[in-house]
Amino acid sequence: MLIDTHCHLDFPEIVADIPAVSERARQAGVERMITISTRVKKYDIYRGIAEANDNVWFSVGTHPHQAHEEPDTSAADLAALASHPRCVAIGEAGLDYHYDKSPRDVAARVFRTHIDAARRTGLPLVIHARDADEDVAAILRDEMGKGRFKALLHCFTASRMLAETGIELGLYVSFSGVLTFKNSAGLREIARDLPLDRLLVETDAPFLAPTPHRGKPNQPAWVAETARVLADAKGVSADEIASRTTSNALALFDKMPGLPA
Ligand code: NI
Repeated sequence: MLIDTHCHLDFPEIVADIPAVSERARQAGVERMITISTRVKKYDIYRGIAEANDNVWFSVGTHPHQAHEEPDTSAADLAALASHPRCVAIGEAGLDYHYDKSPRDVAARVFRTHIDAARRTGLPLVIHARDADEDVAAILRDEMGKGRFKALLHCFTASRMLAETGIELGLYVSFSGVLTFKNSAGLREIARDLPLDRLLVETDAPFLAPTPHRGKPNQPAWVAETARVLADAKGVSADEIASRTTSNALALFDKMPGLPA
């Protein structure tokens, strides 16, 4: 069994077809998925998807691209919204200096508010970090010093420094279809060297479809391709990667119920 710990089921490529997407996922061994928020104002959409599908959970938060659209959501607001029984994470939030869609100071403030919400709720923070490794690492160190929180570096494509900082601070690292790309040898070397008890897999669907589906709209079933490449990088079987990443996901997203016996 696999868990797709990060997808965007509300996107038009998927939302009209969730029953079929779920069925294809089940056939690939992907029994659960977490649909990740990019805007607090779309909360009711994520909540509705999770309430209508017993294999879907959701998060609440503001993506760095949208930080300037909703800069004033408080940690208390996020915590209140996260009290829904199927809301299992805060985010995604973080810094993105590749696109710079929000002013950097606004994105940093919103990121810290999400960290505060993660601390208050005990839920894991889903971190988006792109071309901002130094600042993400500095904020994580600073905030961890103020009080522990749980988090993961989602769709990890950053430097070895940021991966190692995350591991040192107790974070998890999640790999997407990027791990399968031909030109991702350096990323596979980082994956090889990270502790297996901190690794997760995700699709980030509908984005970043793995090889051999690259270029198509991604779907949760294809997290199996990323898991297969991660197994190769770690030198273990696909079954072992499935069971380890699933138990890691259940340990991190611990508001999700455990597996039936
Ligand atoms: Ni995402």
